[in-house]
Amino acid sequence: MLVSIVYDSGYGHTAKQAQAVAEGVSRFPGAKAELIPVGAGPVPWETLERSDAIIFGSPTYNGSLSAKLKQVFEDSTKAAWNDLKWRDKVAAGFTNSGAQNGDKLNTLTSMALFAAQHAMIWVGLDLKPGNSGSRSSVHDLNRLGSWLGAMAQSNIDEGPDVAPIESDLKTAAHLGQRVAEVADRLARGRAVATTEVVASV
Ligand SMILES: Cc1cc2nc3c(=O)[nH]c(=O)nc-3n(C[C@H](O)[C@H](O)[C@H](O)COP(=O)(O)O)c2cc1C
Repeated sequence: MLVSIVYDSGYGHTAKQAQAVAEGVSRFPGAKAELIPVGAGPVPWETLERSDAIIFGSPTYNGSLSAKLKQVFEDSTKAAWNDLKWRDKVAAGFTNSGAQNGDKLNTLTSMALFAAQHAMIWVGLDLKPGNSGSRSSVHDLNRLGSWLGAMAQSNIDEGPDVAPIESDLKTAAHLGQRVAEVADRLARGRAVATTEVVASV
């Protein structure tokens, strides 16, 4: 099973989050993660078409997607949307920003809408919000309390060697693993359905 991770990162923080997502994907037996940084060359549309799932990642810039990821979204109209080549693929998203909130939700919402326009199946985080009680802390999984996707926060005066913090990377890995599990379940369901159709003919 192939899970592609299409992401942008201007200064390396979101790239770190993307690597954690990939690590989570590869925890699932038989799943392979393909990291696709945008702007590093032509978009490998064929790899995306072969993927069982596509996970989108972007820093939150100006309260939204980075321009480079948005460009990929626009270019996908001809490459994938016209023939709905990504129909029924699993989709998910992650974002990272400087502020604790930073309007990250808008970035994830844009990704989820984009996935819906491609007839993809959006998968959110199956984690309770962390860091939300008197005995919890920033070291909890999902410390930023997101449901739609994985969020991370990187202090603006720290490099990607230390930011985002471990709990955000673990949250990202959790999302990657979950996407691989859901994609596997869907693929098995499809195989069963096909067998039943063949058997009933
Ligand atoms: C052009 C630009 C716009 C930004 N806009 C936001 C923003 O809206 N909200 C926020 O919290 N941080 C904002 N930031 C901070 C980045 O989200 C933050 O530095 C992030 O870690 C960058 O990730 P990267 O290293 O993957 O590019 C902005 C940074 C830049 C360069």
